[in-house]
Amino acid sequence: MNARPDSASAPILLSDYRPPAWRVEHIELDFDLGIDATEVRAALRLRHDPAQAIPLRLDGEGLELLSITLDGQPVPAGSYRYADNLLEIDNARDGSVLETRVRLNPAANTALEGLYLSGSRDAGFLLTQCEAQGFRHITFFPDQPDVLSSYTVTLRADRGRFPVLLAGGNPDGAGDLDGGRHWARFIDPHPKPSYLFALVAGRLEKIERDYLTADGRPVLLVIWAEADAIERCHYAMDALERSMRWDEQAYGRNYDLDVFHVVATHDFNMGAMENKGLNIFNAKYLLADPDSTTDDEYRAVEAVVAHEYFHNWSGNRVTCRDWFQLSLKEGLTVFREQQFSAQMNSPALKRIEDVALLRRAQFPEDAGPLAHPVRPAEYREINNFYTATVYEKGSELVRMLAGRLGDAGFRRGMDLYFARNDGRAATLEDFLSALGEANGIDLMPYLAWYGQAGTPRLKARGHYDAASRSYTLTLSQLTQPTPGQPHKQVLPIPVKLALFAADGRMLPLHLQGHADTAGNERVVVLDRAEQSFVFQQIDALPIPSLLRGFSAPVILDIDYAPGELALLLRHDKDGFNRWEAAQQLATRAYDALRHGGDATALSAWCGALAELFEDAHLNDDALLADLFTPPGEIELAEREQVVDPAQVHALRQQLQQELGARIGGASLRRRYEALASQTQRQLDAASQAQRRLKRRVLDLLSLIDAPSAHALAADQYMSAPSMTDRLAALSVLVRGDAPQAASALANFRERHAGDPLALDKWFAVQTQLPGELTLARVQLLESDPAFTLKNPNRVNALFGAWARNNPAGFHRIDGAAYRWLAERLQQLDLLNPQVAARLATVLNGWKRLEPVRREAARSAIISLSAEPQLSRNLAEIVQNMLGNAAAGA
Ligand code: TRP
Ligand code: ZN
Repeated sequence: MNARPDSASAPILLSDYRPPAWRVEHIELDFDLGIDATEVRAALRLRHDPAQAIPLRLDGEGLELLSITLDGQPVPAGSYRYADNLLEIDNARDGSVLETRVRLNPAANTALEGLYLSGSRDAGFLLTQCEAQGFRHITFFPDQPDVLSSYTVTLRADRGRFPVLLAGGNPDGAGDLDGGRHWARFIDPHPKPSYLFALVAGRLEKIERDYLTADGRPVLLVIWAEADAIERCHYAMDALERSMRWDEQAYGRNYDLDVFHVVATHDFNMGAMENKGLNIFNAKYLLADPDSTTDDEYRAVEAVVAHEYFHNWSGNRVTCRDWFQLSLKEGLTVFREQQFSAQMNSPALKRIEDVALLRRAQFPEDAGPLAHPVRPAEYREINNFYTATVYEKGSELVRMLAGRLGDAGFRRGMDLYFARNDGRAATLEDFLSALGEANGIDLMPYLAWYGQAGTPRLKARGHYDAASRSYTLTLSQLTQPTPGQPHKQVLPIPVKLALFAADGRMLPLHLQGHADTAGNERVVVLDRAEQSFVFQQIDALPIPSLLRGFSAPVILDIDYAPGELALLLRHDKDGFNRWEAAQQLATRAYDALRHGGDATALSAWCGALAELFEDAHLNDDALLADLFTPPGEIELAEREQVVDPAQVHALRQQLQQELGARIGGASLRRRYEALASQTQRQLDAASQAQRRLKRRVLDLLSLIDAPSAHALAADQYMSAPSMTDRLAALSVLVRGDAPQAASALANFRERHAGDPLALDKWFAVQTQLPGELTLARVQLLESDPAFTLKNPNRVNALFGAWARNNPAGFHRIDGAAYRWLAERLQQLDLLNPQVAARLATVLNGWKRLEPVRREAARSAIISLSAEPQLSRNLAEIVQNMLGNAAAGA
């Protein structure tokens, strides 16, 4: 494999971890800020571990070194070397102060890592992104998370061009300088790793709020955005305050600085970043107003604001020893956000959303060539490991532990974890041992979950014995091999379960060998390859409801009769489990269509849902909308050995047509009219639910009576009081290739001109054109003046939305889309390797495509791998996707 020089480097191994020989106790940073030239002076007070006779080596990438002194003396040319992104200095001692001066060019930084310019040269602002290894693009430093330092940061810049100067920590003075310049200083007293450093400088507006922490600290909350966006920050401010209160009450965690700054930018590689005291957000996850933000996006803003805020404890106060421990902060923080969001909104809907995401994004990752454990054992490029596995599966692992300990036990464990590890760089072992010790339980068996890739299959078989009135449930587990892990261990799998009688009652549980618990639900833990659980005093064959609340991230294999699932769908009181029964039944119905076999499942699914649709007792519109949504195409494809995306799409459409036909066009229209007559733009749960169901009903109607659905959609588009309704209508028109689509798209473009986030939606919705129409449209959109490879949101709105959300449109049988994407990836990689590598993962499932597409995808990936200039980021993804066998080809 050819690649840029740095991509040839050997992988980093978890087993190679050594504590740093050199630490930095304190760092003083001075910035002379400019768009094309910024000078950075850094003074590092060093600490040396006498047990490790290793010379001082600092990371530094692409830095123009201007000067270097050690303890006030210039370092002679022969006493330091800067090569291969390392600066090695002779004669440093414990207590030495090393000072370097370097020059950077922020305007030339298209990778959006380190110090860069957001927006135009004239109007844009400067900002930093340091996680995971961006700090080395700013100054020389041991750029690894186990080096914790206190920071004093001074910013200097032209006052007219950069009126606002921000860095993490508490403000420590500001003032004027000669020549129209000014300065500002910030001191962060909490030792932190370099990845949490941040600065922002430019023309920004703010909104502020006073906050008093539960432990009595007054804090000024400030949200910053460009002038045209500042009025769209109020929702985020409310969400921030809710997050802070919640962390105080749920975990006893208080904020710990005098100020908390949040900044929005349109140019950002990911969602948001938890820099200490100065969070930086992709505008997509901060700005919100009814005219341009959908309900789903409102919830995403609340969730991401919470996530970044919660990092202040799970990530910042307690950070990671090394990047292998990434899930220690990310999995835990996702879990904390999920708990928060569940409490702020509907717990069932939140769980449904999160499990659907896990199945759509993480399960395929875990089943393909990029599979890796939540704690990987090696990597080449750490930015490639900010994955659904580390985040979402990581959160599921924390949820299992929390479930094992119960609410009070988990809180006790978390208190101990925070107390013991505050100000430290910790490991997953530290986490498990604190949770365990606080409860007198050995949780170390759960470590196997962190080290093992692949989604376990949980098989369940039931047997009823009338003579002994006992029901025996036999559970077994199996995890398929993944790349580099041919043999899998047995894992502890907590299975929350209940038993239902044929009339829909939940049965009391008498588990042989265990004391009875109150309630009709309990958790059994499968910690062997196979195990049986015997339930007594059961009068007739029960219907088991397993893995309730999705108690473990596994794939459940159980041979329900369709009628049993229909019963669970009708009778389960818990919204999540009800949805889960509907999902399983829909999957059965799909299989019936696919294999042309037994149609009972199809009629059971349609029948049960049609009944619920008319049932006045189920007055939960949002849940109803979700019950009506069968598993997505990606999820359905996951179950196939050989995937034909066009066929999956066609079958899923047919499945929904059957449902629509069963309910009937008249009934769908009636419901639509009823929901539409209540339309307004409020954000309360009932209004959101009504919009969600309305969207779903219109979707179904469009599948059985397109002309009438398109007429309704065209009206809805014109009269929509909110983005939710407007975009839903536009989407129906575009996906149906309706005659009204063109004028609605033109109207949308004009109506939202000047709003980049709305423009992203305009791009994304058009990638959802059906089948063969998509490629030509995507090519047309690419030549739109508003399209640019330099903006990650725009790139994802076009290529990402196409490849991820429209598999049938993307996976053309002629392979044209693969070739086209490979070409763009190569161009994008030269600008922004992180975004290119992430986008490339859309080809993750190529090996399971049917032979024609598989060959086309393979040759596109191979052509990419032959490029001489690939970044380490993209090279690693491409190489792993091909697998080791093909890598030498
Ligand atoms: N730590 C961030 C979060 O999860 C994510 C992150 C990692 C990130 N690397 C990044 C964000 C690079 C932006 C750019 O909250
Ligand atoms: Zn995070």
